[in-house]
Amino acid sequence: MPPKNQLKISHRSNPVSQAVSRLYPEHAYQKTVTQPGCPNIAHFHGFIDAVNQASVQTYLDQKYPGQISVTNLTYANGDTLIHYHPNLETSEKPATPKKNFSLTLTDFQQHLQSLSASPTKKDLKTLTGLIPQLLAKDRAAAGELINQLKTKLIASTPQSSTINHQPSAWLDLTAPGDKPPIGHLHPITQAIFKIQKIFESIGFTRVRYPEVDWDYYVFESLNMPPDHPARDEWETFFIDTPNHPQYGQMVLTTHTSNGQVREMERVKQPPIRMLNIAKCYRRQEDVTHTAMFHQFEGLVIDNGIGIVHLKGTLDYFAKAFYGPQAQSRIRPFMFRFTEPSFEVDFSCVYCQGQGCRFCKSGWHEVGGAGMVHPNVLKAGGIDPHRYTGFAFGWGIERVYTLQPGLELDDIRPFYQNSLHFLDQF
Ligand code: DAH
Repeated sequence: MPPKNQLKISHRSNPVSQAVSRLYPEHAYQKTVTQPGCPNIAHFHGFIDAVNQASVQTYLDQKYPGQISVTNLTYANGDTLIHYHPNLETSEKPATPKKNFSLTLTDFQQHLQSLSASPTKKDLKTLTGLIPQLLAKDRAAAGELINQLKTKLIASTPQSSTINHQPSAWLDLTAPGDKPPIGHLHPITQAIFKIQKIFESIGFTRVRYPEVDWDYYVFESLNMPPDHPARDEWETFFIDTPNHPQYGQMVLTTHTSNGQVREMERVKQPPIRMLNIAKCYRRQEDVTHTAMFHQFEGLVIDNGIGIVHLKGTLDYFAKAFYGPQAQSRIRPFMFRFTEPSFEVDFSCVYCQGQGCRFCKSGWHEVGGAGMVHPNVLKAGGIDPHRYTGFAFGWGIERVYTLQPGLELDDIRPFYQNSLHFLDQF
């Protein structure tokens, strides 16, 4: 027997019992005990866990929004006691306001006349609120007056659109729905796919190599021994990890050329036609540089490969990417991993090589290229007396922003996550 100051609540009137019997009928309800000032405790046979508790709470929230919260579960003799509050049965019902029929129809009409010439929605609400104070016999007449006012109000409200808000008798269920807004790939990802497609169409295979790599692949195997001054050109981020006994320090890849010797090691026997597209990192940031950027690296090794093959590939890419009028040009340069080496330019898309405000000289420099240095072939286990090859590497952001119509003079917004900027591509 519960102590005297405890009340027992019946199964039907208990909201928690309703919820449990609906959700978990296997747990028979026993009783609910309430004590003034304490959470109620509903007693069920069997084990109810926290997950079940959450479902019960969801059920209660739907049926009695914001009114009951299950606070705790306790267990006794294999049964579950669900603690909850407040108790609907014992909570005080809001007092029903006393009826007061103090308003006559004449009072109501006077009130209506006192409104300004152009009544508002608020006036309508106030008048509607007065109806309960009228005697039943006057209410229909007052309702009629309110309706007239409503019609007047609608007629005087300017329509903000031409849409007809009246429910239509005819509904076309086959009409296409509103299209949800859909995003698109990041412009640099779009450029990567476009570049990949162009090179795949002439037999290149896209590969990916580490973007955090050993010094050996990034520099040393590319004919840049430790402490060689040529390394200074790549403003390198070094990783603070122990050195590899053979491959040296770990760095963030400064260029995609780290893929060259890795690809030779993977394929072993030419022919090789590699396209390595990856993120690169350098310690520099200004309108044309971001510390993280992308490059694509081509490497072709086979019997009898010469500069003509390189030049043909550059021209093919220029036309495929920028259009049939585009041309490429190579100028002598110096890279440790190619001999001879070149800088590669593409003709300006605006003036076609004539010289304009955008390009100044008629050409834009895009990257480097050259014939693979014999030392690099040797590092990759390939006999330089038997095979030759060419390589090139350019920045994707650079190649992308030279497209006609873009006229972007700052590449940093590509990586600032502003949809205002990115949505334009
Ligand atoms: N890796 C060079 C850079 O980042 C670009 C480059 C030059 C790549 C010559 C090559 C090459 O493959 O042959 O500046």
